[in-house]
This record gives sequence, structure tokens and C-alpha cells, in this order.
Amino acid sequence: MINPDSQIEALDSEIIKSDQDNVLPEASDQFVNTLYVKELSERAMAYLAVGYSVHFAGPAGTGKTTLAFHIAARLSRPVILVHGDDEFGSSDLVGRDAGYKKSKLVDNFIHSVVRTEEEMRSLWVDNRLTTACRDGYTLIYDEFTRSRPEANNVLLSILEEKILNLPSLRRTGEGYMEVHPDFRAIFTSNPEEYAGVHKTQDALMDRLITINVNHYDRETEIQITMAKSGVPRKDAEIIVDIIRELRQVGVNNHRPTIRACIAISRVLQHLGATASETDKTFQWICRDVLNTDTVKVTRGGESLMKQKVDEIIKKVCRQNKSVRKTAPKLADL
Ligand SMILES: Nc1ncnc2c1ncn2[C@@H]1O[C@H](COP(=O)(O)OP(=O)(O)OP(=O)(O)O)[C@@H](O)[C@H]1O
Ligand SMILES: [Mg+2]
Repeated sequence: MINPDSQIEALDSEIIKSDQDNVLPEASDQFVNTLYVKELSERAMAYLAVGYSVHFAGPAGTGKTTLAFHIAARLSRPVILVHGDDEFGSSDLVGRDAGYKKSKLVDNFIHSVVRTEEEMRSLWVDNRLTTACRDGYTLIYDEFTRSRPEANNVLLSILEEKILNLPSLRRTGEGYMEVHPDFRAIFTSNPEEYAGVHKTQDALMDRLITINVNHYDRETEIQITMAKSGVPRKDAEIIVDIIRELRQVGVNNHRPTIRACIAISRVLQHLGATASETDKTFQWICRDVLNTDTVKVTRGGESLMKQKVDEIIKKVCRQNKSVRKTAPKLADL
């Protein structure tokens, strides 16, 4: 009896490359590159230039993914994007033996001869990480702590020894692969206390250079709000100030995020409204967009949200008005 395993050993394995997975990012004209952003990206570029991988860690909406793409674009290599996922196993990152390909050749020209050739190949399906390591691409592993720590173990030897270790997954072909010298990885993660986030093994953290990011400075937030919506500067200033003020309220000082500024200003622009305390449209947009962030602020079990938002709108609009009145106009200088 033929042992099916020995038959398989003798057969070639075929590698399927998933080249269509990579993208070549281009700089976006909506990307805001203020001093603060430049400094962050210069730091990351310096670590990457000497071969380290970088990790942007910080709360939601602090620009980690956007920065990762921006930096990847500066590296001018194709980019492979992976999103962390609780369901991930190592094979989802590196690849797997995906069964066998059977092909049959039937000779149709000589009817008297029915020539049949059968071939069985073990199919190795490369996943994104393997492709990035082999071809020297930039890997963006977004929210990598959403994958279980054991799924990320494969990264340890990639980052330190520059070797991708496949033997436990691959039955035929090479068990090891040298990582291309241009391979770089950029990781992003949310804090450990976020729902659905796993604690990362120390060994992996030890191999990465972590840059902690927090909310952008006021000027960067204003520039992003303008770039993403087209509202004039005076409206962007009011919206950003309201959001920054609301961050000080309640227990979660990381919300609302810049996403709320972008959402409010886009709708405002779409409706042709203005950021002012007398504009009813502005008020309901703010209340709706900020609804999820402020329901948690309660007094005696009742949500203080509407009241708090209204109060802050009033306060910020008045402050900005008086600042504009007292500030000398550019033309007067
Ligand atoms: N430098 C920038 N220029 C223009 N827009 C930006 C910039 N940084 C961030 N943004 C915008 O701010 C929003 C939040 O950014 P991003 O998605 O990168 O945050 P994040 O930290 O990855 O958030 P999360 O942890 O929720 O994934 C996005 O809409 C993004 O387009
Ligand atoms: Mg992100």
C-alpha cells in the first residue's frame, strides 16, 4: 500500500504569490504636516533607517494609522496592510499549506490514445507577512494587539534574526526564509484597557521602538479640520476648541477625538451653516455628533450631555469672538 504521505513528499510545492495585495501609497494633499506631525515622522524615519520597526501606541483617533501610511509612503516601497484580528492564527499572517492541486491532461488529438497525466502539487499560499518579508515591502500591522499574542509570535524572529520561520506550518519546501533587507514594519496599537485588545508579549515589545502618540496640538487639529472639510479657519477654530474643552469633561479624557471635529465640520460645510452660538443647525450637529461621547457624563442618573454641549458651545463662541475683536488684523500690521 502506498503511504499517501511519502507520495506527497516527493511532489513539488507551488507557491502562490498574492501580489495584488500590496499598494504603493502616495502622499495625499489632505495630509496635514505641521511641525508636530513632522517631528513625529522624523523620529520614526530615523529608527526605520537603521533597520528598526516602529510602533505608534495611543488612544483612538490620535492619527496613528494616518501617520503609519504617511511614513510608509516616505519609504517608497510597496505596502502590505494587515489588521489585527482576534481570530488570527500564525498561518493568517505567513501562509499555509492549502491542500493539493490536481491537474489532468487529456490528449484530444489522437482519439485512439487517451493520455492522462495527473499531477499533484502541494499548494502553499503565501500570506501577506511572507510576501512582505520576501520582497522587502513595508508592512503596516494596524491594531496588532487585537490579534492574540501567540499569532504574533512569528514576528519575533523576523524582527530580531531577520528570519521567517515556517517549518511548523509548511510540510514541503523551505522551512526558513531570509527576510529581505528592505523589509520594515510599522505597528499601531490602542491602549491595553480598550475592549478587544490583548496584552502583548514583552519579547515583541522589546523588539519594537514604541512612539507614544496623544491628541494632536490645537494648530494641527485646526489644520486637519480645515483640510478634511473645507470650512474656513474661524469655524475650524471654534469646532476644535469645543472638542478640546469637552475632552476635559467626564472620565474619559481621550474623547471626543479629531474624528468628531471632522464630522461636525463636514456636515456644517455641506449645509452651508456656520460655527456660531446662534446657528441652530450648528447646535444640532454638535449634539448629534457628540451624543455618544457625552452620555456618560451624568448627574443624578441623568445625562448632562445636551446641557454640557450647549454650555461649551456658548463659552467657546464668545471667547473666540472676543479674541478676534482684540487681535489686530493682518492688514493692520
Ligand atoms: N496628519 C493628518 N492629516 C490629515 N488628516 C489626519 C492626520 N492625522 C489624522 N488625520 C485624520 O484624523 C482621523 C483619525 O486618524 P487615524 O484614523 O489615523 O487615527 P488612529 O489613531 O489610527 O485611530 P484608531 O485608534 O481609532 O484607529 C482620520 O480621519 C484621519 O484622516
Ligand atoms: Mg487606526
